[in-house]
Amino acid sequence: MANNCAVILAAGEGTRMKSTKPKVLSELLFKPMIDYVIESAKLGGAEDICAVTGHMGESLNAYLGSRVETVTQSERLGTGHAVYQAKDFLVRHENGNVLVLAGDAPLMDSETIANALNFHERNENAVTVISARIDNPTGYGRIIRDKKDFLQCIVEEKEATDAQKAINEVNSGAYWFNCQALLTALEKISQRTVKKKEFYLTDAVEVLVEMGQKATAISAKTPDVILGANDRIQLMELNEIARKKVLEAHMKNGVSIPCPDGIIIGTDVAIAPDAVILPGTIIKGHSIIGIGSVIGPNSYIDNSKIGEYVTLNNTFCYSSEIDDGCEIGPYVRIRPGTSIDKNCRVGNFVELKNSTVGEDTKISHLSYIGDSDLGSGINVGCGVATVNFDGQKKHRTIVGNDAFIGCNNSLVAPVIIGDRAYTAAGSTITEDVPADALALARTRQIVKKDWVKIKNPYRK
Ligand code: UD1
Ligand code: CA
Repeated sequence: MANNCAVILAAGEGTRMKSTKPKVLSELLFKPMIDYVIESAKLGGAEDICAVTGHMGESLNAYLGSRVETVTQSERLGTGHAVYQAKDFLVRHENGNVLVLAGDAPLMDSETIANALNFHERNENAVTVISARIDNPTGYGRIIRDKKDFLQCIVEEKEATDAQKAINEVNSGAYWFNCQALLTALEKISQRTVKKKEFYLTDAVEVLVEMGQKATAISAKTPDVILGANDRIQLMELNEIARKKVLEAHMKNGVSIPCPDGIIIGTDVAIAPDAVILPGTIIKGHSIIGIGSVIGPNSYIDNSKIGEYVTLNNTFCYSSEIDDGCEIGPYVRIRPGTSIDKNCRVGNFVELKNSTVGEDTKISHLSYIGDSDLGSGINVGCGVATVNFDGQKKHRTIVGNDAFIGCNNSLVAPVIIGDRAYTAAGSTITEDVPADALALARTRQIVKKDWVKIKNPYRK
């Protein structure tokens, strides 16, 4: 079978985004639009991909790296001109079909693309345009069909007659072309449109029809797939469509989302059945949530692995792992590199960073645990701080199994506290504490009897 490819148009300026980034790097569910387009192209049947970049091309090329080939369109002379910049790429794929997609239309899905390819190949079309029927076709190219329902041409808004403007079947901007046919058509258009300022890809349809080749339009099942984002308001609208789609997919898989307010879940997140996601929660990156866990309200989870039956209430968790049965929150911040073993309790106003915590350990209130290795069955009292930074280097704190750290302790790292050891409340622990010992590191209390009566400190 011939090798099918894709050309993604991403040279446009996107002035209305008012961004310092290339338009196609604007994000939907925390992922740049162009990533959706690349993914859909691949899953939809394109093996090799070439992106046409231009405006802020350098930063876009840097972002794309070696994932796709790139060519530069140095002047924005229209969609036909843009595709023509990929001529060498098309010549190399001349025996197959090419999918043309707009880099700023992230909802075009692989299923629609694959269906269109199937249709395109079965009918041996020169071009198959993915179209959509929409209520307000203003601004889009209109699909003009002949009596037999074949595609005759696409007329752009600017050139459309009133009768044509009334047509509500529009060009999505996504097409499958036979590569050879497209090359021939682009060659012809480039010769005849010297005077015209813009070089339309859509004109290729008419040229192919004139050459006696087969052109068809296939209507997408849902019109949403054609939507693009030109400004932040449209971006929000697309984001909302994508957000609902993701939430619905999770609900179909058995995840409870009783109220979707403020819940944003990235496309690469996996959530097991019976998990509950509560309002105000953002889950992104390659996060995994286990069976029956309750996440939220108001939690933020990035690139983290959460086990089964965990509760994360008002918790921020970055690049960390939390094992089964843990109860975390409210108001907890778990910074990168932290791993919490089963059935731990981490309570209000606790910050953990780059630390390991063994099973059944409790850090229930107002503590900072950084660069530490805590064993299992430990009780960390209220207000414990690991003193992990000496101004230049970070040092580790190690606490053995079943130790008891008193309230308001400072554990000055590097320091090791042995298994089952106790530290007295208010201690500043600067030296290692052996297993089974009690360490007191505070001044003894002095009581001065009747001091107030003698000194009268509040009287003049
Ligand atoms: C295009 C189609 C229109 C279709 C609509 C769907 C043409 C002439 N018209 O119109 O029929 O209904 O898409 O959204 O193709 N681009 C470049 N270089 C250029 C010009 C454009 O890379 O010189 C890129 C843009 O960045 C964008 C895509 O091509 O990603 C489409 O271009 P745009 O200007 O948005 O085309 P529309 O006028 O929307
Ligand atoms: Ca557009």
